Amino acid sequence: MKVIQRIKFAASALFMATLCACAAGYDQPDVQTANLDPVMEASTSAPLYRAQWASYSLEQKAKGREMYFAVCVSCHGRNLEGATGYRLSDTQWVHGSSFEQVMASIRTGFPEKGMPGLEGVYADQDIAALTAFVLSQQGGWLDHEYEIWALPGGVVPFDPEWFNNTPIDKGAMTQPIPTFVKPEISEYAMRVSGDILIPEGEPAFVYVQGWRLPVTVKLNGEALQPAEDVGGPLYRVPAGQHHLSLTYTTVDSHPRYKGQPLPIFVTNELAKVRRFALTMGAQRVLEKTTIKFLAVDRPLVVRRRIVDIPARSIAVGFPDQYNFAFNPITCSLVAAWQGEFLDIGPNAIDRGNFGAIALGDLRFKAPDAIGLGGGDEASCDYIKMTRDHPGAAPSFHFEREGIAYTMHSDVGLYGLEIALSRDDAQGAPVAIAMPGKLAGISIDQSASDIARIVIE
Ligand code: HEC
Repeated sequence: MKVIQRIKFAASALFMATLCACAAGYDQPDVQTANLDPVMEASTSAPLYRAQWASYSLEQKAKGREMYFAVCVSCHGRNLEGATGYRLSDTQWVHGSSFEQVMASIRTGFPEKGMPGLEGVYADQDIAALTAFVLSQQGGWLDHEYEIWALPGGVVPFDPEWFNNTPIDKGAMTQPIPTFVKPEISEYAMRVSGDILIPEGEPAFVYVQGWRLPVTVKLNGEALQPAEDVGGPLYRVPAGQHHLSLTYTTVDSHPRYKGQPLPIFVTNELAKVRRFALTMGAQRVLEKTTIKFLAVDRPLVVRRRIVDIPARSIAVGFPDQYNFAFNPITCSLVAAWQGEFLDIGPNAIDRGNFGAIALGDLRFKAPDAIGLGGGDEASCDYIKMTRDHPGAAPSFHFEREGIAYTMHSDVGLYGLEIALSRDDAQGAPVAIAMPGKLAGISIDQSASDIARIVIE
């Protein structure tokens, strides 16, 4: 988050206060008799933000992306979310938002802040391709305005044309993200509309998170139909610049949302990852809930839904930055990653709507699996997990075809070592199945009774 945005948020509190003071004396218009002056929806003749990079081909942006991952990722993050360097994935820019300004930032760098310039290192056309990639990853409002209609007596207008009535208040929003809160009016409809950018890459969805949260979503003037419902509707939105309008009525809203900032996000498919906030309520959720779960001084064991890893898997994280997931349904390893452990934040308050996210670099993940039967579910009976003491690495116990096994994990000299042994010590070899193409992962089956999987 950039300083600029913080200042803007602070200013928005003042702004809301002013709004409250001036709206308090309004005569609330009657739903039936409100005058019918049509109010145009906000103009769709948008500023030319998108045009600045839309002319770059997919190939050029792919080249830019490659450069980004080679040169910039360490300071600006895998998702351009920012680290030592600023977040580049929002629409707030400190050194200017135009193509030329962003390209200038990249060309000259900020040597005094540690960012080297690319001028003279790369050709200008490559720097331009990189700039196009960076700009194509922005998401968020470019501008927006609000309109408010009182709904006295809690009557919800059925006719969409009703919203052509003159609002009791409207104006340009001064804060980067709207709240939808209007405490001095008991029942109201509020529309926030303006231009947004949806980043290129993965499919994106507007997600109105929550049951009975009456919000109508329009894109470029068309009412959208939900593509999916995951504890709230998901509306597909194509990448690029669009005019978005969100209309909320307090009537019919679940009491839980009364007077509360609404949680509306842009997410990826099935809302597995919330990419950015469209409302202040969503922003607060994102700020509050990036809770990194890091194994600092001892191995951690976490049973939570993890995005892209089979349900019910048990995740284990070691302080040495090795992590893996064990699936008790198939009794096999279904993922291993290096780096930080998990971001469990979104799950903490959403009662499981959102999976945790494995941080760091994935070495492999399901459907690839390593175990006795590969990823095969047949005849595996998971028994239990044990640890010698609370700070010890875990062992998983299971049975397969009448034979009991123990899978013990630990970090050793060569990396993450997972030993799979027969409990009956019959001297028969333990035969592990593994997909052929996993680099840096080896299996030692030379001992009888025990096999070792080493993830370097
Ligand atoms: C060593 C760390 C580092 C690296 C590597 C780095 N940056 Fe930066 N970047 C920063 C810092 C720090 C800032 C903030 C400068 C300031 O304080 O004004 C920044 C600022 C920027 C800005 C200006 C953002 C704004 O809000 O106006 C852009 C654009 C940018 N970086 C793009 C890139 C790109 C593209 C690359 C790869 C070629 C890159 N950076 C590599 C650290 C880095």
